[in-house]
Amino acid sequence: MARKVFITGANKGIGKQIARQMGKNGWNVLVGARNDDRGLAAVHELTGEGIEAEYLNIDLQDSETISAAVNLIESRHTGLSMLINNAAIPGDMHKPGYEFTAGELRDVMETNFFGPFELTRCLLPTLEKNNGRIVNIAIPIGRLPHFNPFAYKTSKAAFNVMAQSLAQNFTEKGKFVEIFSIMPGPTTTDLNGNITGEHAKTAEEAGKLIVGFILDGKNHNGEVINYNGAAVDYNHGLF
Ligand SMILES: NC(=O)c1ccc[n+]([C@@H]2O[C@H](COP(=O)([O-])OP(=O)(O)OC[C@H]3O[C@@H](n4cnc5c(N)ncnc54)[C@H](OP(=O)(O)O)[C@@H]3O)[C@@H](O)[C@H]2O)c1
Repeated sequence: MARKVFITGANKGIGKQIARQMGKNGWNVLVGARNDDRGLAAVHELTGEGIEAEYLNIDLQDSETISAAVNLIESRHTGLSMLINNAAIPGDMHKPGYEFTAGELRDVMETNFFGPFELTRCLLPTLEKNNGRIVNIAIPIGRLPHFNPFAYKTSKAAFNVMAQSLAQNFTEKGKFVEIFSIMPGPTTTDLNGNITGEHAKTAEEAGKLIVGFILDGKNHNGEVINYNGAAVDYNHGLF
């Protein structure tokens, strides 16, 4: 039976390319998206390429949709063996940190940390039963001269700690489940206003890179894999 992966934010950008590459490697893909039209359009595109894909509505700011997605997986996709926490928002990437309101910061934290945490926690029994894996699409949160988006980095710092801390828990408690992070590096997507430049890769390149690491047959629990394949920590990874 084909293995099954749930990818959040898989209707566009890096998430859709991860879905495509996982599908091409024989995985059945649950395409997570918060907007039905955009989610179904991505599924239509992928199935047109011969990929087994199904739409799963999820808004990481909405606990009800998270519970509904988990219930659906527990009833219809009991063989799920991978969750890819890909969806994220940047917030205002240029405004200084001191100009953010707590509400604006909370908004980004909901999508990039609380939502993925809740989803991960709720899917853990299914993933553990299937010796599964959780893959976080991460960014470096250390001091970088040209990369200082306050809400984005703050929320991803919490997201990074989640992966690091849970990985340690899994090892200590002998749980048969892995969690690790991959940092794709600068990529031309809507998230960053489609930046270009010699260091920016396409979403397709990022998707191939990420899936290459995911399917390399190694145990990566607790690791942070940089785009160049180097094992790093979250403070590393200069853009
Ligand atoms: N682009 C880069 O340079 C770069 C570098 C390193 C890491 N990353 C990481 O790569 C991941 C994908 O980013 P991307 O660059 O591909 O960005 P993107 O093209 O903007 O895609 C973001 C995805 O997240 C979804 N999303 C946003 N808010 C959501 C919510 N509340 N609930 C569910 N889904 C939501 C979006 O759905 P909608 O279409 O509904 O908005 C979209 O599918 C992110 O984790 C990002 O931090 C990106």
